[in-house]
Amino acid sequence: MNHLSLFTILSLLVTILSQSPHSLSEKCNPKDKQALLSIKKAFKNDYYFASWEPATDCCDWYIVRCDYTNSRIISLEIFEHNLSGSIPRAVSDLPFLETLVIHTTNISGPVPSNLSQLKNLKYLRLDQNSLSGSIPPSLAQISSLTSLFLGHNKLTGALPKGLASLPALRDLDVSYNRLCGRIPTGGIMQKVDSSSYSNNKCLCGSPLPNCK
Ligand SMILES: *[C@@H]1O[C@H](CO)[C@@H](O)[C@H](O)[C@H]1NC(C)=O
Ligand SMILES: *[C@@H]1O[C@H](CO)[C@@H](O)[C@H](O)[C@H]1NC(C)=O
Ligand SMILES: *[C@@H]1O[C@H](CO)[C@@H](O)[C@H](O)[C@H]1NC(C)=O
Repeated sequence: MNHLSLFTILSLLVTILSQSPHSLSEKCNPKDKQALLSIKKAFKNDYYFASWEPATDCCDWYIVRCDYTNSRIISLEIFEHNLSGSIPRAVSDLPFLETLVIHTTNISGPVPSNLSQLKNLKYLRLDQNSLSGSIPPSLAQISSLTSLFLGHNKLTGALPKGLASLPALRDLDVSYNRLCGRIPTGGIMQKVDSSSYSNNKCLCGSPLPNCK
């Protein structure tokens, strides 16, 4: 090995090492970290959130995912855990969220109307919990929404008319709730299988039997 190539290798090493403090630094956005810590607190620091430690990078935390490019939280998936209480308000303080999953828990209370602040939300799965109250009409403001799963809860009231106008919606399931009234007409409302509406109190109209 001659001196020139050794010099080249050494200077390469120096370059790599001088960059490493940057690549090792935290990627997590401080606002996202704050919102996640509020969520953890709302669930009384349940051990499910044990990896959510303030001193560590939130992009490495369990059940969340950061975007590769801007390192914002894009996914939060809480599932199959005996969590109680309601859906924390702080969930709507993750503006880049594309996927929100809370399924098979003992979470009760309403579907927060403030979820409509999540302008990038595509996939909203809140099935198999104990959610009550009505489906907030504001969900119909999330124009990016492709999938909405609210089945197996205790939701009451009617289906918001605006759901029929959601431009990207492809999947919908509200079965096994206590919903009532006419299924709004348009969009995918009549295209999904009738099982998406089954086992409710008194939903009616296509694809279910006519309203009386
Ligand atoms: C919810 O609570 C009930 C009663 O304590 C329990 O049987 C059930 O397993 C819990 N659900 C989950 C997902 O842990
Ligand atoms: C679920 O959590 C509730 C409230 O913390 C508790 O009372 C219940 O015993 C738990 N159930 C199970 C199966 O762990
Ligand atoms: C909903 O979001 C708006 C705008 O961020 C905020 O002003 C309001 O307090 C929130 N409402 C609740 C009930 O959290």
